[in-house]
Amino acid sequence: MIEAGFSARVVAVVSGKGGVGKTLVAANLAGALARAAYRVLVLDADLGLANLDIILNLSPKRTLDEFLAGEGALDNVIVPAPGGFSVLPAGSGLSDHARLPEEARTRLAGALAEIGRRYDFVLIDAGAGIADVVLYAASLADEILLVTTPEPTALADAYATMKVLSMQQHRGALDLVVNQVRRAGEGRVIAGQLQQVADRFLKPPVCRRVALRYLGEVPVDAAVGRSIRRRALLVESSPDSGAARALTDIATAFGRTRARSAA
Ligand SMILES: Nc1ncnc2c1ncn2[C@@H]1O[C@H](COP(=O)(O)OP(=O)(O)OP(=O)(O)O)[C@@H](O)[C@H]1O
Ligand SMILES: [Mg+2]
Repeated sequence: MIEAGFSARVVAVVSGKGGVGKTLVAANLAGALARAAYRVLVLDADLGLANLDIILNLSPKRTLDEFLAGEGALDNVIVPAPGGFSVLPAGSGLSDHARLPEEARTRLAGALAEIGRRYDFVLIDAGAGIADVVLYAASLADEILLVTTPEPTALADAYATMKVLSMQQHRGALDLVVNQVRRAGEGRVIAGQLQQVADRFLKPPVCRRVALRYLGEVPVDAAVGRSIRRRALLVESSPDSGAARALTDIATAFGRTRARSAA
């Protein structure tokens, strides 16, 4: 268990559907929180297809895969990222972690407990879907941040993720970010719709009720693709873009949530 009092808020960034913006949100939330003087680590738990290292232009010598396989010390795996936060990079293309062996689970939980003592926030960039690895990484987190887009397929997968987290992990509250909105206010409408479906179907005796805490929306913005191509962090390279401003506002809302729940 992570020690109370001196421990990080561990937040798993999950989605259901792939490609909706988990890595964008995790990395830029980390950058914005680091700028607000929080100590932040992003753990890339996308053990199937890691790409946080590519986006942030990191060249890690060691990765989480190797650490989980029993090689090397935790400190050798953590690397500083542009933006003033730390990253624990996953390896790339290692599909044999689709089901995490017991030993790797123990090492991952131990690593998080150790990391938790040194940071204010640990953001877990989980893989897409509700595979074993993703659910296990999410189970280690204090909080879940669900990312979706307004696309019907993304919403269906977001709902499926809410359902499985409620049923298997008894989650009663989830943070929500709606990415790639095309109109201001679209995110809040989406949050309302998801909440309505949850109210209707996710309730006792099936599972506990789930309350979504809407953190904000991020617009579709060409600056996102540009920053990825430059391998730069959006909130640093284009801080005045609509998406960067939105992500900074979300970080502020998120930091406030933390202050409240830590009180
Ligand atoms: N707000 C946005 N505006 C424009 N493009 C975006 C936006 N958000 C994400 N994208 C595009 O979508 C792609 C996927 O984003 P990202 O890698 O953050 O998703 P992901 O959920 O982490 O994907 P995966 O499930 O593969 O890990 C990005 O490479 C980017 O091109
Ligand atoms: Mg990703």
